Amino acid sequence: MLAELSVAPNPLILDASPGGGRPEKVPSETQVNVFVQPSTDEGRYEIDVIDIRDGQQSFNLAPAIRSGLQHRNEHGHRTLPSLLLWDERGLKLFEEITYTPEYYLTNTEIALLEAHSREIARQIEPGTILLELGSGNLRKIRILLQAVEALGKRLDYYALDLDRRELERTLGQLRADVGGRGFFRHVRCHGLHGTYDDGQVWIARPENARRPRCVLSLGSTLGSFAPAEAAAFLKTWAGTLLHTNTNKASSAPSSSSSSQILLGLDGCTDAGRVFAAYNDRAGTNRAFILNALDGANAYLGYEAFRARDWTVRGEWDARAKRHVQYLVPLRDAQVTFLHARQHRHQHQSVTVKAGEKVELASSYKFDDADRARLWAESGLRVARQFSSKDGSYGLSSLSLITTATNISHFLD
Ligand SMILES: C[S@@+](CC[C@H](N)C(=O)[O-])C[C@H]1O[C@@H](n2cnc3c(N)ncnc32)[C@H](O)[C@@H]1O
Repeated sequence: MLAELSVAPNPLILDASPGGGRPEKVPSETQVNVFVQPSTDEGRYEIDVIDIRDGQQSFNLAPAIRSGLQHRNEHGHRTLPSLLLWDERGLKLFEEITYTPEYYLTNTEIALLEAHSREIARQIEPGTILLELGSGNLRKIRILLQAVEALGKRLDYYALDLDRRELERTLGQLRADVGGRGFFRHVRCHGLHGTYDDGQVWIARPENARRPRCVLSLGSTLGSFAPAEAAAFLKTWAGTLLHTNTNKASSAPSSSSSSQILLGLDGCTDAGRVFAAYNDRAGTNRAFILNALDGANAYLGYEAFRARDWTVRGEWDARAKRHVQYLVPLRDAQVTFLHARQHRHQHQSVTVKAGEKVELASSYKFDDADRARLWAESGLRVARQFSSKDGSYGLSSLSLITTATNISHFLD
């Protein structure tokens, strides 16, 4: 089985023992098709994480921090980029959030996957690339991967996320949890280190485009976008899958049935339930949000924000169907922006008044009607819809609409 696999030139080797193992080598950008693979040493394994970042640009948030504080958005708020949430510590804190009793989203989606993963797995073509956008802690995907494995279907799973060490940790954990040496025989697991945009470029590469592809987003991750942004985001993914599909008998794009999108989206608008999920009693959400200030300092290269001077405020906005996380200074906070290193004496500053809300992250809720609108605006059609008992959470299997009208629509 292993002999038929291509092996990374510089595999990353981690020690499977608790606390063991810093990366010994960084894999080259060119490697593909290597999976979490047992090595000859007992207790050690190789993890394939591919760096698909478009240079360092995609991770430089300093300009966005600065302009977000200098200007106000359509709601009249200064902002900080929500990407600040997703560093290594933030991802670990988010994992803790998913275990809090109030965070209903994870357990709801686990129940849906446990009930329907066999059916979803049956719809996945052998040889598929399964790309998960914002894979996080991989708690849920294993349910689907196990169902694919049980059917004996060959599949390459790619976990895409922003922090390399977390990809290594979570893929290692996945392997340990699903049986160590008896790890998947048909399913191969890989990490992709990069942003959604990097992922879109990667999935369009000819070697990937010739295979069936399934793009997956769980945990209502798409809810961080406002409805119009979410539609624009999905439309570009649908367009990319449609127009880079080379796995077809004819040259007509209508044979793109081998590409699909699977999305988990929350539509709960019960104010109390939503508020509790994002403002848990143990304070895990609070620590998660405050961690963004450390992230901002790290990007700027100095302590522009003193975390002890700030607090967190969550609000449910019923009209926009979104929960918003704000950072709020306890006293007037002067945030100084130093210019390039060689000009450190030059600076500008912004004063955020005590009590002023700085918008950091939104969680939009999409009920059935919102979801139907979203699919229509994105050029997607529901192939199968699985809903939670109360109907508020949806796991939707979506196919690409390939009518002539839609094709020209994507080309706009
Ligand atoms: C709400 S969490 C969901 C995690 C996981 N899918 C789950 O269901 O628990 C959002 C995830 O998306 C990732 N993410 C956010 N923005 C991203 C971006 N622009 N590119 C890649 N990953 C991103 C975060 O790092 C995080 O893992």
